[in-house]
Amino acid sequence: MTGKIPKSFIEDVLNRTDIVSLIDAYVPLRKKGANHMACCPFHQEKTPSFSVSSQKQIYYCFGCGLGGDAIRFLMEYEHLNFMEALEILAKQVGLALPQENKTYESSTHFYDVLNKTVQFYQQQLKNTKEAIHYLKSRGITGVLAKEYLLGFSPSAWDNLTSALGKDEQITQALLQTGLLIKKESGHVYDRFRSRIMFPIRDVKGRVIAFGGRVLIKEEPKYLNSPETPLFHKGRELYGLYEARHRSREIPYFIVVEGYMDVLALAQHGISYAVGTLGTATTAEHIVKLLKYTKKLVFCFDGDRAGRDAAWRALQVALPFLSDGVQLAFMFLPQEEDPDSFIRTQGKEAFLAEVKKAVSFADFIFRHLSESRDVSTLDGKASLSHVITPLIDKIPEGALKQLMYERLGRLLSLSTSQLRALSKKSHVEFSADLQKTKTATANSKRAMTHLTPLRLSMALLLQYPLLRDSVPASLHVIAWTQAESELFREILALLSAQPDASAAQLLRHWEDKPEYMLISELLMKEHFIDESELEKEFVQVLWRLEQQHHESCIEKMLMKARAQGLTSEERLALQRLIEGVKIIL
Ligand code: CTP
Ligand code: MN
Repeated sequence: MTGKIPKSFIEDVLNRTDIVSLIDAYVPLRKKGANHMACCPFHQEKTPSFSVSSQKQIYYCFGCGLGGDAIRFLMEYEHLNFMEALEILAKQVGLALPQENKTYESSTHFYDVLNKTVQFYQQQLKNTKEAIHYLKSRGITGVLAKEYLLGFSPSAWDNLTSALGKDEQITQALLQTGLLIKKESGHVYDRFRSRIMFPIRDVKGRVIAFGGRVLIKEEPKYLNSPETPLFHKGRELYGLYEARHRSREIPYFIVVEGYMDVLALAQHGISYAVGTLGTATTAEHIVKLLKYTKKLVFCFDGDRAGRDAAWRALQVALPFLSDGVQLAFMFLPQEEDPDSFIRTQGKEAFLAEVKKAVSFADFIFRHLSESRDVSTLDGKASLSHVITPLIDKIPEGALKQLMYERLGRLLSLSTSQLRALSKKSHVEFSADLQKTKTATANSKRAMTHLTPLRLSMALLLQYPLLRDSVPASLHVIAWTQAESELFREILALLSAQPDASAAQLLRHWEDKPEYMLISELLMKEHFIDESELEKEFVQVLWRLEQQHHESCIEKMLMKARAQGLTSEERLALQRLIEGVKIIL
């Protein structure tokens, strides 16, 4: 994603930067233990959970989950793109950017080329009847198309080089902004062909990427620009710039999934919808949106996927729920999305649905009560067990207190009893995770909420040498637990770059959804005595192996019940069961 800027240059800049003094200039830090702490600049809190490690050269907020290296901090805090942040840091440490890619110049050059591309696609739309017809058939008028800079990419493979010229600099810019793709042979061709083009603008209104939709039924239906120096999918929201431009004051944002949803709502006079471009809602999205209004309404499909997406959004949003922030969730009928709904039922019907949106509190209680019988003692205990860690993520304030009161009423317990209960369950949980004396003594603050797999990843990332302690007899390659792929990725990365620093390792996930998780794992304190590290690590791995083993048996048994086993499978099962005994 860093385009032509050499990796080694970025590492140079990072190596010469001290993240502690960098951040301290924006957010005064206080040393506490191995880290420097402050109240998080990205979410409101009263007790500091924002920590910066001088040794690891990264930051992480245990409250809201935002974290990264020095470049990421500047991007986040100053709302810069990658290259702008890199340039500032380079200047500070007295490094000149490699001549052939002076960032500032190429950055403006990129915007320039993107603008020319927009104009080209707009022109093409004017000349393409079936594209205009398609937009009309979906209820988009010429006026709206113009406002959102919609365009069309013709079917040729070389539209852009023909239109913008074959100049080397332009080709480079087109490649780095993802508009051209280079084959191994060196041949370049257009990424977007025969598609309606939706330019994606940043908050300043600059076009940074595109989405493209086919006119006919064809796969993939949508194509997006890849991650580029200007475009990080997880940070951008389609229509945010336009929404701010359209309304003087934004009453609330409606967060939807698709391009067409944003456009259809705008077409019907609802100017404050933004699209997540088909990805899950991120903390960065929430921080961005809350700057303009304190109320967010998430609008999801009525199906299972929609409910899951809503639940994920809720979890991401918890740390940002300071007093005054309102979240609501609306669920459209099955088979409907905002676009289809508003076009068939109209604006008033849609706004009526917005009014019916479930409040954050109702959603959380309803969702968690669904799968348990809260009239029984067991159900109550289990509800309190899952809900208190979530409520605890809400910043101290009236909302948090209200949530506890509501839980108390439901369970017939007092708020202080509940808070006590919540602390207790954390301790029990982590004590179960780590049996060493040192760990237990501090476990309250330590690896709470870490699954064994995450614990093992945290240890690996923090002590890369542990890589050599992974027993060869483990079937890591076959593990199927959630995130075991990530575990394997970490192992592979460590063997490719055995000497990488924490910040360098983190760079590997720069554009990936796991970035936050990896920052968290890198920063997590474990309180395991150095002398016990290897033993602990290996123990956790064996527990994982056992989990894997048990799930294999479980699968076999299920098959046995459902359709019976072949004699071969029965033997395999027997061996598996014996295997477990050996491990135990
Ligand atoms: N998306 C994507 N790639 C796909 C499918 C979807 O990037 N192959 C993203 C797009 O941003 C899209 C959003 O996910 O707008 C929602 O997807 P979907 O609900 O399938 O599309 P709609 O917006 O309903 O598209 P349309 O109404 O045009 O069929
Ligand atoms: Mn749709």
